[in-house]
Amino acid sequence: MNFTPGDTQTLLDIMRSRRDVRGKSFLATPLEEEKIELILQAALAAPSVGYSQPWEFILIDDETIKEKIHKNFCCENEKAKEIFAEKEKYRELKLEGIREAPLNIAVLYSPQKKPVLGTTSMQKMGEYSVVCAIENMWLMARSLDIGMGWVSILNEKSVLNTLKAPPQKQLIAYLCLGYVSSFASEPELKTLKWEKEKQRSELLHRNRYNNSSSSKP
Ligand SMILES: Cc1cc2nc3c(=O)[nH]c(=O)nc-3n(C[C@H](O)[C@H](O)[C@H](O)COP(=O)(O)O)c2cc1C
Repeated sequence: MNFTPGDTQTLLDIMRSRRDVRGKSFLATPLEEEKIELILQAALAAPSVGYSQPWEFILIDDETIKEKIHKNFCCENEKAKEIFAEKEKYRELKLEGIREAPLNIAVLYSPQKKPVLGTTSMQKMGEYSVVCAIENMWLMARSLDIGMGWVSILNEKSVLNTLKAPPQKQLIAYLCLGYVSSFASEPELKTLKWEKEKQRSELLHRNRYNNSSSSKP
C-alpha cells in the first residue's frame, strides 16, 4: 500500500491536533459502537515487543464504577496538590474527565509467563508496547473527532481492585473518551503557563549527546 503526500499531511494534522481532553469539554453523547471498534482496531494494530501483544482493555460505561474511580482520583489528587510549589495554580487545573466522558477504558499490561523476544535486556519493553497501543487509540479517536484524556493520578491497586482485574496485571492507562465541545489548539498546560514548550535545540542531538543548548543538528 502506498500513500500520497496528502495522506502524510493528514496524518501530521491528526497528530498535531490531538489533545488531552478533560472535564467539561466532553459531551454526554454516547459513542457509536463502530467508532469504538475503530479505536480498538487501532490499538490492536500497534507494534509490540516480540509480538507479545501484552495489552488488555476494559471498557467502562457503568456510572457506579466511574464514580469509584473518580473518588480514587480525588484522593490521589489531594496528595498531589501538596507536592507542587504552585499549590494554588495546581488546584485550578482540571486533570480528568472520568464522569463527564461517556466511555472510560482501562488499559492493562499483562506480564507474559514465558520469555519474550526483545525483553531479555530491557525489561520494560512490554509496558512500552502498551503505550504504543494507547497512542494509536488517541490518534484514531482524534481522526473521528472524538476526544481522549489520559488519567494517571490514580492508585493503581485500587483501580485494579475496582475493576476486578487479577493483581498481576498492571494499569498502564485510564482513558476517558467522548465527543467534545471543541479541541484546544495547543496543550492546556502550555496555555495556562504550567509548562513551556521546549525548543528543538534542547531536544535533538546528532551523533553524540551535546550538552550545549545552542547546538543544532
Ligand atoms: C503518560 C501520560 C499520562 C498523563 N496523565 C495525565 C493526567 O493524569 N491528567 C491530565 O490532565 N493529563 C494527563 N496527561 C496528558 C498530558 O498532560 C498532556 O498530554 C500534555 O499536557 C500535552 O497536551 P496535549 O496532549 O493536549 O498535547 C498524561 C499524558 C501522558 C502521555
